[in-house]
Amino acid sequence: MSFTLQLFLFSSLPCILTLLLLKSSFYSSKSRKNLPPSPPKLPLIGSLLQLGSSPHHALQAMAQTYGPLMLIHLGTVPVLVASSVDAAKDIMKTHDKVFSGRPHLNIPNRVFYACKDIAFSQYGEYWRQVKSIAVLHLLSSKRVQSYRQVREDEMVVMMEKIRKANGSTFNLSELIITLTNNVVCRVALGRTYEGRRFKSLLLRLMEVLGCFSVGSYIPSLRWVDWLSGLNRKADKVAKEFDEFLEGVLDEHVNKNVDGVQDRDLVDILLEFQRENTTGFRLERDMIKAIIMDVFTAGTDTTFTILEWTMCELLRHPQVMKKLKQEALEVGQGRSLITEDDLDRMPYLKAVFKEALRLHIPLPLLVPHQSTEDIKLQGYDIQSDTQVLINAWAIARDPSNWEEPEEFKPERFLKSPIDYKGLHFELLPFGAGRRGCPGIQFAMVVNELVLANLVYKFDLALVGEENFNMCETNGMTVHKKCPLLVSATPCS
Ligand code: HEM
Repeated sequence: MSFTLQLFLFSSLPCILTLLLLKSSFYSSKSRKNLPPSPPKLPLIGSLLQLGSSPHHALQAMAQTYGPLMLIHLGTVPVLVASSVDAAKDIMKTHDKVFSGRPHLNIPNRVFYACKDIAFSQYGEYWRQVKSIAVLHLLSSKRVQSYRQVREDEMVVMMEKIRKANGSTFNLSELIITLTNNVVCRVALGRTYEGRRFKSLLLRLMEVLGCFSVGSYIPSLRWVDWLSGLNRKADKVAKEFDEFLEGVLDEHVNKNVDGVQDRDLVDILLEFQRENTTGFRLERDMIKAIIMDVFTAGTDTTFTILEWTMCELLRHPQVMKKLKQEALEVGQGRSLITEDDLDRMPYLKAVFKEALRLHIPLPLLVPHQSTEDIKLQGYDIQSDTQVLINAWAIARDPSNWEEPEEFKPERFLKSPIDYKGLHFELLPFGAGRRGCPGIQFAMVVNELVLANLVYKFDLALVGEENFNMCETNGMTVHKKCPLLVSATPCS
């Protein structure tokens, strides 16, 4: 051994010893960590296979063995799963700030302009700015009221189509989808885009968002998403949507909006960009990402809940009868029920709460992520742990609900429980900082349409398979078979 090497080793010995000591103390403190219970996992894929095609069902079953706060591994990603009121409250209320992150997911990153939207953007200043624009300028109570005419027009068009079916069978799901798309299109973009091209684009976007990306959970196998064609598919739909939105923005920039009363969301966002009163520069990609959020977060979820609610009513004639009675009393023979009447329909509200309890459109909400190390219910949770709230399991937990599998709107008539994020037994819209800002937007249109459907028609399900409550797979859980119904005018 040369003299210089000996000298080097001798002089660096204290450093090496310190490093070894630090390393061993790091590992012993890591092994002393009190982690939540975990199911056994396979190398590389963890518990991915156990999730099957309905993750909310599989996670509910796993929680029965491992408890309401468990740590599973999806691929190589640690995922904390909360399945009780207390666990959800600790995450979305007590430690809301720490758990307000979002994981980096491959597909949202590709379609939402590197997550410049609201739902998938990282917790921080950017998210705060864009969410507050949405809450104050697009989805505030006053703004939602200003879209009233659009909702009423589209509802009347739908009623007319049903009347024209003249008692023959028609696809109610299809009508509901068209209505929600038209309302969102008119409010967001200023007019409807009823052509097949836009419909199929939106459908493909939702489909790709619901796809499982291997790269998001096993980064070393990221290439599989190229091999399977998933990345190409996502990029293609993102490019087409971008071209569509570019056209919409150009159309809006070129029109003169001064003095125009009924401005749409694009007008409002462009005005915000021009005036730049808050010092926050809203760029073109950001505007497009926000508009995309309104479509992806706002259309699918809204029509899904109306479809499930209608289905439950048709399967429960007694509930339908009671709701119809309420509608007839409120409508008093007028041609339509209006939005002013809705506050006098407590049973209608209870029906929706019960439908939202049993059929949460996003059963696992949108994944959260911890932004720092934290102790939760005595367990050590590391920073960057993904978090899933099984809102579906909580809403069917017998320790929270009597006869949880039964559709009984009456349970809400004397209960203060609401879905706005204050009662953790019922979380269809999430809660806390990351909670849904579109509750009012979604629920007014749903209430208006359902109230008028039962007021104007006697509806009946057609075909045995329609009573089947099977769910689709994907991010939003729909009814598998479309609602085929017949309707007889009754007022
Ligand atoms: C029945 C209809 C709807 C349901 C069930 C629903 C549900 C949800 C849920 C569960 C979340 C995630 C909450 C969380 O992460 O904890 C969410 C977030 C969001 N929703 Fe909704 N939503 C609906 C309608 C809408 C509508 C109509 C809009 C807009 C027009 C909208 C815009 C958003 C946005 C922007 C976020 C992201 C919030 C954030 O990350 O800070 N939603 N929604």
